[in-house]
Amino acid sequence: MTPIQSTIINKKINNKPIWLMRQAGRYLPEFRKIRKSNPNFINLCLNKNLSSKITLQPLERFKLDAAIIFSDILMVPYGLNQKIEFKKNFGPELGPLNLEKISNINEKDFLDKLYPIYESIKKVKENVLTNNKDVIGFIGAPWTLLVYMINKHSPKKKLIRDFFRDKSLINKILIILEKFLKIHIEQQIKNGATIIQIFDSWAGLLEEKDLQNYIYIPTLNLVNYVKSLNIPVICFPRGIKNYKKFCEVVKPDAINIDYDADPIIISKEIKIPVQGGLNPKILLTDKENLKKEALKYLDIFKDHPYIFNLGHGVVPETNPMQVDYLVKLVKDY
Ligand code: CP3
Repeated sequence: MTPIQSTIINKKINNKPIWLMRQAGRYLPEFRKIRKSNPNFINLCLNKNLSSKITLQPLERFKLDAAIIFSDILMVPYGLNQKIEFKKNFGPELGPLNLEKISNINEKDFLDKLYPIYESIKKVKENVLTNNKDVIGFIGAPWTLLVYMINKHSPKKKLIRDFFRDKSLINKILIILEKFLKIHIEQQIKNGATIIQIFDSWAGLLEEKDLQNYIYIPTLNLVNYVKSLNIPVICFPRGIKNYKKFCEVVKPDAINIDYDADPIIISKEIKIPVQGGLNPKILLTDKENLKKEALKYLDIFKDHPYIFNLGHGVVPETNPMQVDYLVKLVKDY
């Protein structure tokens, strides 16, 4: 069993495995070099040789306990034929949402577009660098994908007015998303993913009354699907105010917390294995402070099954030496 599986499945408390969201990315000069000669981000995700190489880059440098596949949650809308472009210093921009077009897509069309992702996972899984480590596959939660598909780019602090105007459209998209997210999960697992993480980056935009329809029910369906394939599932409902309720309803195998969640309260209220929490901006401060903040999480979760990670992804300005320091600190704890 891998260190992360021991934590999640056996609820082991005295090992503190570590991996980091966005551990493969722009803070690494070796990534920036590849990225420079590959300006099209989607094509880079669909290049099995380069995406597997990028996935393994952080494992070449640091003693991390998992590889997370270099891809993006928005590859699913792409597979559903919604246009998508990643613009420099702006982020993703999606094209018009045509319900008729996406309703006519079948499994074969979808897999014809996305199969290089699965081949990349296979290459990562077969590489010695992932021996006795996990290969993390992932999806965006239906809610967060819906936000991008309707809003067309990252929302700022709140949803556009009228977001819920066309409920029938929303419900139809949620049904299509569930079907194709299951296919995407299944293919990732078939090709070597040993854990699935569900990213719900915009969970925090919803009011309490809407959580049932847009977060709890759609996420629970996918969590149960991953469980039916005998693979652990980690949920990250970023910004959700009530992590305890989320865990009680959705019952993931582990929960990733954001940096606004109070780790002391989480450690008291939540019984399942916990992952993450540290503010990624702490990696931009000096070593003393990084040590203090990382030890805070390690001490609070000393008697809890805990996987060290951040409360959101590594930011591009991060010095890789700080990541090295953090990984060693957690390993020596
Ligand atoms: O290392 C890893 O964590 C694996 C790869 C990964 C990426 N995106 C690569 C990426 C994962 C797991 C994601 C998930 C993702 N993508 C989320 C959920 C997590 C989160 O950040 O909240 C979301 C919301 C997206 C959508 C997305 N992709 C945005 C908003 C952006 C632009 C902003 C940004 O951070 O750059 C991306 C682009 C993206 N995805 C990059 C990477 C490495 C940067 C691409 C570049 O080089 O320009």
